Amino acid sequence: MSTFKSVRGMRDFMPDEAKAMRFIEAKTRKIAELYGYGEIITPVVESYELLAAKAGEEVRLRMYAFKDLGERMVALRPEFTPSVARLVATTLRNEPRPFRLFCVGSLYRYDEPQQGRYREFWQSNFELMGSNKPEADAEIIMLTNSLMEAVGLKKYALKVGHVGVLRGIFNQEKLNEKATNQVMQLMDKKEYDDALQMVKEAGASKKCLETLQKLVGLKGDRVFDIAEKMGETVEGYEQSVAAVENLMAILRLVSESECKVNMRLDAGFARGLEYYTGIILEIYIPELDIAIGGGGRYDKLIELFGGESTPAVGIAHGIERIMLAMQKQNVPLQTEEKKNVMVVPTKDELKGEALKIAQMLRDANVAVEVEVMGRKIAKALEDANRRKVDYAVIVGERELKEDAVMLRDLLKREQNVVKIAKMVEKIKGSPKIVGT
Ligand code: HAM
Repeated sequence: MSTFKSVRGMRDFMPDEAKAMRFIEAKTRKIAELYGYGEIITPVVESYELLAAKAGEEVRLRMYAFKDLGERMVALRPEFTPSVARLVATTLRNEPRPFRLFCVGSLYRYDEPQQGRYREFWQSNFELMGSNKPEADAEIIMLTNSLMEAVGLKKYALKVGHVGVLRGIFNQEKLNEKATNQVMQLMDKKEYDDALQMVKEAGASKKCLETLQKLVGLKGDRVFDIAEKMGETVEGYEQSVAAVENLMAILRLVSESECKVNMRLDAGFARGLEYYTGIILEIYIPELDIAIGGGGRYDKLIELFGGESTPAVGIAHGIERIMLAMQKQNVPLQTEEKKNVMVVPTKDELKGEALKIAQMLRDANVAVEVEVMGRKIAKALEDANRRKVDYAVIVGERELKEDAVMLRDLLKREQNVVKIAKMVEKIKGSPKIVGT
């Protein structure tokens, strides 16, 4: 037996799982189309500098980074956002705004493998760039909701926060960028005591500590009430007050759109990635404590990459995690059921005929496998039964002389001689009689 196995954190998708992954991918592509997002395909390998710029420690330290043979420091992408921002800062620089861009593909992070967490994983990623208006943020929420509905998830909730509220406080308290990011990392991990301690050590005022303490306790699904309380709590912090107003405006638009999305507002919510400046989002289902999607507004990244100042908002959905969520909620794959057929020649001399008939069926859009193991009919049928094939087409000399084959319904265990010209019709079911 071989000792080779897949590398830790990497996984193989067997046909059923691959089918589920592609089903979800197809749904994300459909949503992209319905909301007007054009698909772009960007490289898996990017410059380390680009990917590391605002990734935040969590992601930065987990990158698959290496020098290529030309001595360039590169990495496997841990997310799509920097690649899309790079494009907007360069190739799309002079194109009219907004940009609605969609990507789907694999990403790489040296995370600790566990349920729903891999080192190679897939995302569908949506970026809306060029608008700083709340309707852009509302669109990201709505399309996420549409995707969850499209894959058939029954129960899910969107956790919402606003980094601008926290940043506003830290700015006014003159906390430097590094300290701000460190505090946000701690808050992301819900290590609120350590976060507060750090703010204290950085010399923040008593009012600041009290405000943060109150914010951390503000959460729940009465989002408008909570947003209002957030506004009262941050009084005196000008940027934070504006951020709460922005949050309110987004919540109001989502509510007016009548898109039935279950939202939970959490004032102390932070995310690991450092580029966020506004609303932040994560999707959860009750059965899992890991997020199945996450995103938010980031208004400074494109500028940081040397592009025109371009406000942006986006989200990425974890495809494996959506698959896991579907399994947890027993959501069946809505795939088109197609009849499948196995073609078996009765003797070696009829192999060519069998291939010809198989092709004829495929041309008529019937899925066909041909017996390639050289097995006798009984063995071949046994195998077809085991694999739940619907029909066997047995190609024999006697039937061929009459331009016919033996068609066996493997479920009903019945067989009949059928003219080749009628074979497709029989397999697909009798055609509907239209009119009289
Ligand atoms: P993120 O929260 O790092 O955000 O990742 C988004 C989603 O990718 C997660 O919610 C999760 O479903 C999935 N994911 C992340 N890491 C793993 C992993 N190790 N295994 C399986 N799934 C994983 C971003 O990537 C941002 N670029 C999203 C964004 C787009 N923000 C603005 N635009």
